[in-house]
Amino acid sequence: MAEPDTLCGWGDQDKVDYFVQRSALLIPKRFEQLHTLLDLFPWSVDEPIRVLDLGAGYGAVTETILSCYPHATVTWVDGSTAMRGHAEPRLSKYGAHVELFLRDLAEPTWQADLPGPFHAAVSAIALHHLTDERKRTLCAEVFDLLQPGGLFLNNDVVAGDPALRDQFTPLADRVIQQQVQEQTGERHSLEEIRQVRTAMQRPKGHSSHIAPLEPQLNWWREAGFTIVDCYWKFLNFAIFGGFKPPAD
Ligand SMILES: C[S@@+](CC[C@H](N)C(=O)[O-])C[C@H]1O[C@@H](n2cnc3c(N)ncnc32)[C@H](O)[C@@H]1O
Repeated sequence: MAEPDTLCGWGDQDKVDYFVQRSALLIPKRFEQLHTLLDLFPWSVDEPIRVLDLGAGYGAVTETILSCYPHATVTWVDGSTAMRGHAEPRLSKYGAHVELFLRDLAEPTWQADLPGPFHAAVSAIALHHLTDERKRTLCAEVFDLLQPGGLFLNNDVVAGDPALRDQFTPLADRVIQQQVQEQTGERHSLEEIRQVRTAMQRPKGHSSHIAPLEPQLNWWREAGFTIVDCYWKFLNFAIFGGFKPPAD
């Protein structure tokens, strides 16, 4: 029997290149999501915080952190060599403020020798590629890597009522159309945006394990996090997580 592809297709160079070139056409309110992650950090921007970026891909989250927190160090973790090929040149200007670790988050060994403890762990649009059991176990693994008072935030796709999908998808496409026009001045047709989304799901599939929000909040609580909540949500995109309790 073939081994399961724990990267869910993200080892494929063509798929990675396609995503990196078109991420603005695939994720509604992307800028807002990236910056909301940082708005939730309780540290001042001149602190030398250490942050873990899980499923970090081409480095969008890592770069957002470092552009706001110039003294931070970000540990980039991803399983895709193709993604690392995009991340390395993009992040090289940050020098020793970035460390890259090619690791498979589907394996509990992903955390070996990471330079923790961390103030925060963040992830964007990545953990839905792990099985529910791995997502759940990962919460406990991340908890152990954080310092007291640390924060684990997941910005991810969550499962909603299938009845709403028909309404959500065209709305997300209209938001994407508007955001790209505002950022670049380019006007993409809704048909073009739909085609980009469809193309991401072919030809090798885009397997995932998208879970509803509520059980995921419980996995954070079970791991020991407090103030667990969904802090931001738009359609099926959410930012949720919690804090490791401070030391006594
Ligand atoms: C949609 S991309 C998001 C990348 C980045 N976080 C961003 O927001 O642009 C999903 C990322 O999850 C990574 N990923 C998927 N499964 C993984 C696994 N088992 N271990 C490590 N990384 C994984 C992929 O390699 C890819 O970089």
